[in-house]
Amino acid sequence: MNRITFKSASKPETSEGIQYHLRIKPGDVSRYVLLPGDPERVKKIASYWDEAWFVASHREYTTYTGRYKGVLISATSTGIGSPSTAIAIEELARVGADTFIRVGTTGSLHKHIGIGDIIISTGAVRLEGTSKQYIIPEYPAVASYEVVLALIEAAETLNVKYHVGISASTDSFYVGQERPGYRDYMPPFNRGLINFLKQANVLNFEMEASTIFTLSNIYGLRAGMVCAVIANRETEEFVAEAGVDEAIRVANEAVKILSEWDELKRKKNKRYFSISLLIGRDEGK
Ligand code: URA
Repeated sequence: MNRITFKSASKPETSEGIQYHLRIKPGDVSRYVLLPGDPERVKKIASYWDEAWFVASHREYTTYTGRYKGVLISATSTGIGSPSTAIAIEELARVGADTFIRVGTTGSLHKHIGIGDIIISTGAVRLEGTSKQYIIPEYPAVASYEVVLALIEAAETLNVKYHVGISASTDSFYVGQERPGYRDYMPPFNRGLINFLKQANVLNFEMEASTIFTLSNIYGLRAGMVCAVIANRETEEFVAEAGVDEAIRVANEAVKILSEWDELKRKKNKRYFSISLLIGRDEGK
């Protein structure tokens, strides 16, 4: 085991800026970073790029950087759940990333959101503990409107079936998503959770979005999420990897779109993207 000395216990990076968990340093990643949970999915995402190179791999975190349609892009795995995801956001932000798109899998709560469809999140219910260590529970876990719009634009361009709305992020895949635990364990406070969230128009369960959205808002960064529906909690279907290629293609294309919009903002000296930057608007002038 290599002994590496970090600056300090409260600032665990080396003098070159290598981060303790992700083992990445400034210059290693693009400002646009895709965030799958699974390290293997990083390679799958990179297989769609024009070129890709391995950056680092340590514990659950694997990072590749490359070019997609000429745009510098990176992908880093977060592992499953919010604690490891918060570490990824912290360390990616420290080395210069400012735009995150989670590319994951999810369980739909509604019959009409079928296996293989994709869901683009506008926000997430914070049913996890990590984001509550950062900020009060009333603070909203909302996606960046620019990232949401770019994901929708990408799904339209690629002709992929998509749904847009609010997700719920949990800390538990089984009991926390009202799946029976071992020996059918289910605490009373989780009985009826699916129905309750469905009535509130929540689309799906997953385990990372609310932390990514909350931390990104606190730090003034942009984040969004596109997930492939592999489970349907109403029909009880479950198909591993269904829609994953579509979600990946949409996320990659959204980065290309965002980079074009960011360039447009830069040229027109605007802080925020608006439709009139693209098509102009004469009315009211
Ligand atoms: N991921 C989840 O968190 N839940 C599901 O049902 C499927 C994927």
